[in-house]
Amino acid sequence: TVRAASSYADELVKTAKTVASPGRGILAMDESYATCGKRLASIAYRTLLVIAPGLGQYISGAILFEETLYQSTVDGRKIVDVLVEQNIVPGIKVDKGLVPLAGSNDESWWQDLDGLASRAAAYYQQGARFAKWRTLVSIPNGPSALAVKEAAWGLARYAAISQGSGLSQLTFEVAQKVWAEVFFYLAENNVMFEGILLKPSMVTPGAECKDRATPQQVEDYTLRLLQRRIPPAVPGIMFLSGEQSEVEATLNLNAMNQAPNPWHVSFSYARALQNTCLKTWRGQPENVKAAQDALLVRAKANSLAQLGKYTG
Ligand code: 13P
Repeated sequence: TVRAASSYADELVKTAKTVASPGRGILAMDESYATCGKRLASIAYRTLLVIAPGLGQYISGAILFEETLYQSTVDGRKIVDVLVEQNIVPGIKVDKGLVPLAGSNDESWWQDLDGLASRAAAYYQQGARFAKWRTLVSIPNGPSALAVKEAAWGLARYAAISQGSGLSQLTFEVAQKVWAEVFFYLAENNVMFEGILLKPSMVTPGAECKDRATPQQVEDYTLRLLQRRIPPAVPGIMFLSGEQSEVEATLNLNAMNQAPNPWHVSFSYARALQNTCLKTWRGQPENVKAAQDALLVRAKANSLAQLGKYTG
């Protein structure tokens, strides 16, 4: 007999469905301090984000950096509680960083499975209801068969461990070749597909390519790739924004939702939701309102794009 994926099965499915609800997507706010500034500034900034009025209308989930899960806003409310009040599901980034993959072609992998079960249980206790795991395969010197296998197997083990602790999960930045192996190993690890969300990158020209792709080209390649590899039982595809500009990320998502597809196709953007917001804020209290407005403009635009109704 196959063991039930988790005693949390019903809750996992419900969480995945809630995060993948119409007209909403994920605010990725799990940058490390190196990206977003010093500790106090980062608390002020993250407070600004989570208390933005009406954010929950466009945002269904928020991915937190580990410390943020335990932190309070500048006025002393738990960040997790504020999110729940906003009708936003708190999530947690669980991967910790790249290490060299021995025996490969100078490639790297994410290797943080040790202790993940107990960490996941603590995160759940603290209010997190889903987890993000990120991995990557690199193109210039790979991906070697070994790197693909490690990435795919690592994702699958992570998913099984997280579901065992009641956390739904997101995967990150894995390319076409890898998806086949990922789903093979997910099945081997008895991961419940209805309780996962996928966080892929869109298929866009490489960072050094001079020609920009149209939203239709991005939509065409990306949906073709996903349709070949991702079972419709997976409730949500939540794209990261990567190197796209704010407007590009919205236009590309909109194109994806104007074409037929079997999933809830939405966003899990960090940069494409926050770039203008962060630039507007510049650490100054008097800019908080304007920065929140900038965040809400992007959140609303992407909400419309999730519905295929963004007109610019
Ligand atoms: P970007 O949308 O900036 O690529 O961030 C992705 C991410 O995974 C953060 O959680």
